[in-house]
Amino acid sequence: MLDLQDIVREFTVGPTQLRVLRGISIKFDAGEMVSITGGSGSGKTTFMNIVGLLDKPTSGRYLIDGQDVLQARADNLSALRNRLIGFVFQSFFLLPRLNAWRNVALPLMYRRTPEAEARRLAHEMLERVGLGDRTEHMPSELSGGQRQRVAIARALVGSPKLLLADEPTGALDTKVSQEIVDLFKQINRDFGVLVMIITHDPRVAAQCARRVVLRNGLLVAEEEAEAEMDAIALERFGQPLAKVS
Ligand SMILES: Nc1ncnc2c1ncn2[C@@H]1O[C@H](COP(=O)(O)OP(=O)(O)OP(=O)(O)O)[C@@H](O)[C@H]1O
Ligand SMILES: [Mg+2]
Repeated sequence: MLDLQDIVREFTVGPTQLRVLRGISIKFDAGEMVSITGGSGSGKTTFMNIVGLLDKPTSGRYLIDGQDVLQARADNLSALRNRLIGFVFQSFFLLPRLNAWRNVALPLMYRRTPEAEARRLAHEMLERVGLGDRTEHMPSELSGGQRQRVAIARALVGSPKLLLADEPTGALDTKVSQEIVDLFKQINRDFGVLVMIITHDPRVAAQCARRVVLRNGLLVAEEEAEAEMDAIALERFGQPLAKVS
């Protein structure tokens, strides 16, 4: 479904050229559950922004379902993004003046879905993430875990094929974090959505069928990545990765 070929991303900062992604080639199939890990500054968010069509690479090719998306015009690109991709972030990014269901309905408003229909879909999605009884709550009246559920409902309300999450459990404690991971697993299973989670938490990565590791703007080979994840898990929990989840 996603085919990234030799993706390079450079930033110009003052007089220097920063090569943040240094040639990444990788494919993802529909319905995969993937973790993206790697040290701070290794390029995870930069990579996800490109996968999510929020940013364009300096060079490389990116095909989605065979379509070369980097050739698309900007307005087509945002339409594609809106239809195909849902985003979840560490800090939730809910609009503070909108209640839960109106936050969830936002992507539908951008698509000009009639309000009654948007309302119905938003309520249905909140039900799915376990917040059927919180639809009228304002973000400030919800716990961190509940806010993240609202954000997940918002990411899913437009039936995306791809769900991208950047440190979705970074602001949550271990128990709530696990509930959110369970929700991602359920979404992946029930909707067949390709779920990609950037995480620093080996417990989260351990529960993803495929683990991608970035180092210095390059992919770490899969076997080496497994060994590296095992080492981190051993250091943190005294057990290899498979036992940690
Ligand atoms: N817009 C930008 N302009 C200049 N440099 C940038 C820009 N965005 C990212 N970088 C640089 O690219 C590198 C990778 O950043 P990125 O945010 O992708 O890392 P990350 O792996 O997500 O790290 P973290 O785990 O801390 O979130 C960093 O050194 C950062 O300073
Ligand atoms: Mg990041």
